[in-house]
Amino acid sequence: MALHQILCGFAVVVALLTKACGKATLNPRIVGGQNSSPGSWPWQADLYLDGTHHCGGSLINEHWVLTAAHCIAEGSLVVYLGRHSLSGSNVNEVSRAVVKVITHPHYDPLTYDNDIALLKLNDSVSFTDYIQPVCLASEGSTFHAGTINWVTGWGATRNISNNGDILQEVDVPITGHNECNCYYHDQITKNMICAGYKEGGKDSCQGDSGGPMVTKMGQIWIQSGVVSFGDGCAVAMKPGVYARVSEYEDWISNHTESNTTGFVYFQSSGNDTDAHFTCVKPTFTPHFTTDDYHHFTTDDYHHFTTEDGSIFGSGESVMHFSHFNHFISLCALVLSLWALAGSE
Ligand SMILES: *[C@@H]1O[C@H](CO)[C@@H](O)[C@H](O)[C@H]1NC(C)=O
Ligand SMILES: *[C@@H]1O[C@H](CO)[C@@H](O)[C@H](O)[C@H]1NC(C)=O
Ligand SMILES: *[C@@H]1O[C@H](CO)[C@@H](O)[C@H](O)[C@H]1NC(C)=O
Ligand SMILES: *[C@@H]1O[C@H](CO)[C@@H](O)[C@H](O)[C@H]1NC(C)=O
Ligand SMILES: *[C@@H]1O[C@H](CO)[C@@H](O)[C@H](O)[C@H]1NC(C)=O
Repeated sequence: MALHQILCGFAVVVALLTKACGKATLNPRIVGGQNSSPGSWPWQADLYLDGTHHCGGSLINEHWVLTAAHCIAEGSLVVYLGRHSLSGSNVNEVSRAVVKVITHPHYDPLTYDNDIALLKLNDSVSFTDYIQPVCLASEGSTFHAGTINWVTGWGATRNISNNGDILQEVDVPITGHNECNCYYHDQITKNMICAGYKEGGKDSCQGDSGGPMVTKMGQIWIQSGVVSFGDGCAVAMKPGVYARVSEYEDWISNHTESNTTGFVYFQSSGNDTDAHFTCVKPTFTPHFTTDDYHHFTTDDYHHFTTEDGSIFGSGESVMHFSHFNHFISLCALVLSLWALAGSE
């Protein structure tokens, strides 16, 4: 028994040591918060649509990038890897045209179920300290409430004074499935995973969509989610919602024509406090009716891809929301908190 456990532990260590994914030699972090430095997130992809920043993504092997299905649009898609700054010069950067797009066949644009897609690059990329594939959470992986994850992107809630150029990073704890479903009125499917602070303040936002949420295990980083949607950004009791990567091991393996994608099993230890979460539904909803709610969660109020990548997007969708001022003040709060997080 004891020997068995030792051998098993040894096998796990060997398996981890030989993994060719999830390594960020230039990322010294264990847990903490600071601006992203070059090479910290070497799998981060910047997806351009017709010449402008559109979405994020993650490199999963030398030929494929994972992103969100809602990021797929008509036009010319180009992926940048090894990028740190949106508009500055990036000496470690390479670009690749997208030659094939595979959107999940069961992606539902109304509910955002299965919000995941694969992009095939026109040419393989060579791995460097600044360009590395991430590991993906394998089927059955468990992420208990509170597990710290990191989300990265060039989306909204940037430091306005430098026009949000540098890749942003933020740490967020996993919100359990029961708790998240409570906040989102049972719209969270088993294909989604949520993360954020109950009090809000840190989150992914417009323009981060398709980018990775990762967690660290030993020396490697494992992608747990793909930025999908949220009700506003960094709003209290509205965590960010991500496509749950571990639900797609088969689908990704089947379509990437490659045995080099690194799937790693992630298991949280102990008991998940989410199992005992009791949902206390508010007795009244002061700001909107059920109909409004549905309207803006499926249509108006996602994180996402705006043409200009700014926090207010075109302004049009935001205007549908009758509590515009409320939104503005939340955004101001988000911005200041991000600025705080970034300056730690
Ligand atoms: C792949 O796409 C990039 C970016 O569009 C381009 O610079 C490069 O020449 C292309 N490579 C091949 C082999 O077509
Ligand atoms: C915001 O950007 C300005 C200009 O680049 C810089 O001086 C400042 O330190 C940045 N603030 C934070 C909090 O990152
Ligand atoms: C993956 O491929 C296998 C073998 O062809 C097939 O049985 C399975 O249904 C596929 N799974 C997905 C999710 O595409
Ligand atoms: C992938 O498959 C090919 C052909 O089956 C094999 O030669 C190669 O060693 C495999 N690579 C890995 C990393 O398993
Ligand atoms: C986990 O839950 C089980 C069953 O509810 C309980 O017996 C055990 O003490 C719990 N363990 C921890 C570490 O809380």
